[in-house]
Amino acid sequence: MIDKKIVKLINEQINKEFYSAYLYLDMADFYAHEGLNGFENWFKVQAQEEMAHALLFRQYLINNGYAVELAAIGDPTMKYSDNKAPLVEALKHEQYVTASINTIYSEAFALKDYRTIQFLDWFVKEQGEEEMNAEDNIRKFDLFGTDAKSLYLLDQELKGRVFTPPSLVI
Ligand code: FEO
Repeated sequence: MIDKKIVKLINEQINKEFYSAYLYLDMADFYAHEGLNGFENWFKVQAQEEMAHALLFRQYLINNGYAVELAAIGDPTMKYSDNKAPLVEALKHEQYVTASINTIYSEAFALKDYRTIQFLDWFVKEQGEEEMNAEDNIRKFDLFGTDAKSLYLLDQELKGRVFTPPSLVI
């Protein structure tokens, strides 16, 4: 049995993960217009990851016999002033998602809901990786983004990212 407070938070998390996919797709669109198809690819793959996260949370509710409540997904309304701006916003967004997952974790801990804690352990680790990747993108852009030739090479590198389904099986 999972407390209804946790079920509500997980339903909200499903919406946040789908919103993340929307946000990253919008960033991919920005880079497509800038002619940076490697950055576009990186964010398209990121959007796929977010949808996979949403589906894991959905599956967790279903496996435990709880109703999934799909709410409207907000518009990604961000405007970007330059090619670095989406990278900075992506890091801020991942920090927000980490805080959101930590909130569910804290509630589960307070309620001695060890099943949910075990499920969330994967996401805690995943958020560490997501923040590290976002920081890495900013660092690389600061090093190479201002020179046209090195920006071209960085764009080529990001073109190589492929979607790998999550390692978590539930
Ligand atoms: Fe699903 Fe990027 O956190």
